Amino acid sequence: MSNMINIALPKGRLGDKVYDMFEKAGFECPAIREKNRKLIFENPEAGVRYFWVKPSDVAIYVERGAADIGVAGKDILMEAGTDVYELLDLNVGKCTMAVAGPAGFSYDRSNELRVATKFVNVAREFYAASGTDIDIIHLNGSIELAPILGLSDVIVDLVETGTTLKENNLEVIDVIADISARLISNKSSFKFKTKQIVDISRRLESVIED
Ligand code: PRP
Repeated sequence: MSNMINIALPKGRLGDKVYDMFEKAGFECPAIREKNRKLIFENPEAGVRYFWVKPSDVAIYVERGAADIGVAGKDILMEAGTDVYELLDLNVGKCTMAVAGPAGFSYDRSNELRVATKFVNVAREFYAASGTDIDIIHLNGSIELAPILGLSDVIVDLVETGTTLKENNLEVIDVIADISARLISNKSSFKFKTKQIVDISRRLESVIED
């Protein structure tokens, strides 16, 4: 078990793209393409074992060493403040973390700003930097509904194409960060399996597309 590199991939569309990159880089595992509900796949010859993990859990598997490396969105890494090495920007899963609100919204500072988001830590940190008092409303999805229904003044959320904002009469007010998928490593795995992990990282780097 310990000689193989254990890799946590985010289940879903991003994970499929990321697995394609691992395959191109020479770490194929054909069984992963079979349509079934299995969560673990390995290719002993290539020295890799893949796990499909809920995207928001990848960083936890890697931080705690259940996986040596993994691929997680920068949004999740920012929010969780995970203690892992970030080895590579894979240039996929690209989007923006932004503050958005109703078109023309302006904040008069006489009241606390009500901010709805999944990313409560990112939002707190962003507004703390400007000394803005906020009331955080922690939601789990469909964040764009909050300002429409008067539940919040603004949202902090991911914007990819901008379609969801546009179709709900919202617009970007501030960009907080550029987001993409990152290759991350457990710190002690990196120490003890340096050669294999650096090799995977270099070979992945060579298949990154612009
Ligand atoms: C994400 C994000 C936005 C939307 C942005 O939601 O939270 O709602 O995608 O994409 P767009 O700019 O291309 O429209 P997701 O689909 O992951 O679902 P969620 O509402 O459950 O977060």
